[in-house]
Amino acid sequence: MATRKKTAKSKTRAALKKSARKVIKLSSARKNAAKNASKSAKNGNGKSSNLPKPSNKPYGQAGLALQGVRILDFTHVQSGPTCTQLLAYMGADVIKVERPGAGDVTRGQLRDVPNADSLYFTMLNGTKRSITIDSKHPKGMEILNRLIKTCDVLVENFAPGALDRMGLTWDYIHKTNPRMIVASVKGFGPGPYEDCKVYENVAQCAGGAASTTGFREGPPLVTGAQIGDSGTGLHLALGIVSALYQRIRTGRGQKVLCAMQDGVLNLARVKLRDQQRLAHGPLTEYSQYSEGVPFGKAVPRAGNDSGGGQPAWLLKCKGWESDPDAYIYFITQAPVWEAISDLIGEPTWKTDPDYATPKARLPRLKKIFARIEEWTVTKTKFEVMDICNAVDIPVGPILSMKEIAEDESLRKTGTVVEVDHPTRGKYLTVGNPIKLSDSPADVRRSPLLGEHTEEILKDVLGYKAAEVAEIKNSGAITPPEKKEKAA
Ligand code: COA
Repeated sequence: MATRKKTAKSKTRAALKKSARKVIKLSSARKNAAKNASKSAKNGNGKSSNLPKPSNKPYGQAGLALQGVRILDFTHVQSGPTCTQLLAYMGADVIKVERPGAGDVTRGQLRDVPNADSLYFTMLNGTKRSITIDSKHPKGMEILNRLIKTCDVLVENFAPGALDRMGLTWDYIHKTNPRMIVASVKGFGPGPYEDCKVYENVAQCAGGAASTTGFREGPPLVTGAQIGDSGTGLHLALGIVSALYQRIRTGRGQKVLCAMQDGVLNLARVKLRDQQRLAHGPLTEYSQYSEGVPFGKAVPRAGNDSGGGQPAWLLKCKGWESDPDAYIYFITQAPVWEAISDLIGEPTWKTDPDYATPKARLPRLKKIFARIEEWTVTKTKFEVMDICNAVDIPVGPILSMKEIAEDESLRKTGTVVEVDHPTRGKYLTVGNPIKLSDSPADVRRSPLLGEHTEEILKDVLGYKAAEVAEIKNSGAITPPEKKEKAA
């Protein structure tokens, strides 16, 4: 027994040494990269001789942008997974840690196919690997420690304090791997609400989006676009990539925090702009102004008024009586006013002092849009789009999700991608919306729960087959019911 223990111990020591050697190898590669980066920074131009020679490989064949970056993905639900999925599309090796037997709660949420991972999960976790680890099990913590040593970034969006309760405090992680970047999504930043759990619509409400969305006469509205969750995930991805870049110079990791309230406010910044403009008079491009309705102390809901400073409105198109999406968004951009006047059959508006200038038009917007609508309603939204685009008038058809799912051009660009899944079959996902000319997006299906556990234990963490068997028996990677059966 004692000898067996000894052998196991020495095997573990050997594995640890091996993974330590890997870390040292990586460290020296990164040290060199840091040296090069600081020299390049001194030169301060794009011609630095310290950069590698420009690759001769054809574009798209020189590896992926984040190749070599390994992410310890402790995320769940939507905000964090959005971030890590994007990093995976860019080439990072994303290892998603999930609770044995349960996994990310979204695997079972809004299920459309019995016994298959939901679209909620599959569309947010593509191109990742899944390992199951019980972080509250001592052996599980040992595995996590190894992951911390070998990964570059830990991403998490647990409720405030959950990571600390696991024992994974910043101090601990930083001591274990000083190069580790620890990136978190929280609902709120430091302040009175920092301990609150937060979901999408809470962030939309607290970030100023809901109070400024909807119609003046109605209640605040949340939007369909997940600006709180996916929006914050995008912010976090930028923070991570920046921290990775800074690490080339400093050699050390740092904390990256994105609060969902901050992320939403960043996306709603034009409304904070308008809040400050209110102090200097009414917001003349809001239709409320042309309707003679006085402004209050806070930015009002503006319905479909443009946020871009150019008067605009949503107009009916042919078929609107039966098709809820037969609408076009029409922007009366000042430089194309003459084209608009000609198009709708009001050529005198080009010179009439009541219509000829943007200022003169402001109190008449309601009448103007009613007249434009008399024209748009005679055409389909796609006809309006074609006619207006030909004369540079900015318009946008209201596309239903059905139309988007069937759009050939979105498929061609890889923005909408069909992938095949072993238990649910084919499904559509959103590919990488960011196109890099030298880094084609790597969009693959989401992993099954724990699909890569053994592969990661062996190939990434260096556990030998006997150790993997020991880990399996320990219960650290198996669901509780299996543990009970084994006992
Ligand atoms: N093994 C063992 N335990 C695990 C585990 C694993 N692999 N992974 C997670 N857990 C545990 C955590 O330790 C925590 O336990 P504790 O509370 O006993 O310490 C628990 O599972 C999950 O934590 P929590 O984050 O509180 O989940 P929740 O379902 O109660 O709350 C949110 C969900 C989204 C409200 C919350 O995580 C949150 O506010 N996150 C930050 C904001 C955010 O991202 N919101 C948007 C989500 S789209």
